[in-house]
Amino acid sequence: MASRLSEQTAIVTGSSAGIGAAIAKRFAAEGANVVTNSRSRDRAEETAEAIRATGGDAVAIESDVTDYDAMEALVEATVEKFGSLDVMVNNAGVTSIGPAEDVDPDDWQRIIDVDLTGVFFGSQLAGRQMIEQGSGGSILNISSIMGDLGLHGRAPYCAAKAGVNNLTRTLAVEWAPHGVHVNALAPGFVKTDITDQTQSAADYTDEDIRNRTPLDRFGTLDEMAECATFLVNNNHYVTGEVLHADGGWTAYAWGSDGT
Ligand SMILES: NC(=O)c1ccc[n+]([C@@H]2O[C@H](COP(=O)([O-])OP(=O)(O)OC[C@H]3O[C@@H](n4cnc5c(N)ncnc54)[C@H](OP(=O)(O)O)[C@@H]3O)[C@@H](O)[C@H]2O)c1
Repeated sequence: MASRLSEQTAIVTGSSAGIGAAIAKRFAAEGANVVTNSRSRDRAEETAEAIRATGGDAVAIESDVTDYDAMEALVEATVEKFGSLDVMVNNAGVTSIGPAEDVDPDDWQRIIDVDLTGVFFGSQLAGRQMIEQGSGGSILNISSIMGDLGLHGRAPYCAAKAGVNNLTRTLAVEWAPHGVHVNALAPGFVKTDITDQTQSAADYTDEDIRNRTPLDRFGTLDEMAECATFLVNNNHYVTGEVLHADGGWTAYAWGSDGT
């Protein structure tokens, strides 16, 4: 078994599906003890069970990232089970789609709560634990290319992800003296429940996305897990960085054929 994360304990929020599940499985394959998480213990347990089935060590703990007490209990239970917390991935995320002028205040608040406040709660609780442990650590926040770009119909999501990017930089500066690296991973388009949900409500197709992407394809779950593994293993000089894993989407201004 590869071992870029041996003797590390990692929590991955929102790891019952999609990018979070892929990251959790990869971290375990790299030797980490993994705590999977979602709002449902049963769903988080599916990922933990898949990890154990391949020889890894994982437990599932249910908590909603918007619930501070539940997140505190998640960190405490992790430390009780594995003895430390070395890596925190704040991945859980939700979105909605609709014109900005029609966004319901409750929907705005729900997305900000999960996508931004949840990232702060997870970061604060993990950072506090890592500072107390005194041996550094790594926090990775899953952002989006929509943290840097505007997209029709995604006002709360784009605002939340932009907040995640600058929260990441701020925490990186504040916790660097403790050896805690804080970075963000900003995926482009990867096929998951969230993309299915938003694409079906929007007026763009898979082909539109590929045509707009210099690499001419969607990203894969494996590629996101690989970037996450690089960012959290701390064998580098990177902190406060937002890594765009987007096939060139944010680098691209206009018309590769010269038009
Ligand atoms: N897929 C993409 O193309 C893409 C692109 C850019 C950024 N991202 C970001 O990547 C992250 C993962 O997205 P995904 O595409 O993998 O989405 P997904 O397949 O819909 O998975 C979302 C995960 O978040 C969990 N979750 C949702 N609300 C939660 C809450 N309040 N507390 C705890 N867990 C919660 C879900 O678990 P339960 O439902 O079981 O609670 C699920 O495990 C998100 O932050 C998203 O914004 C995705």
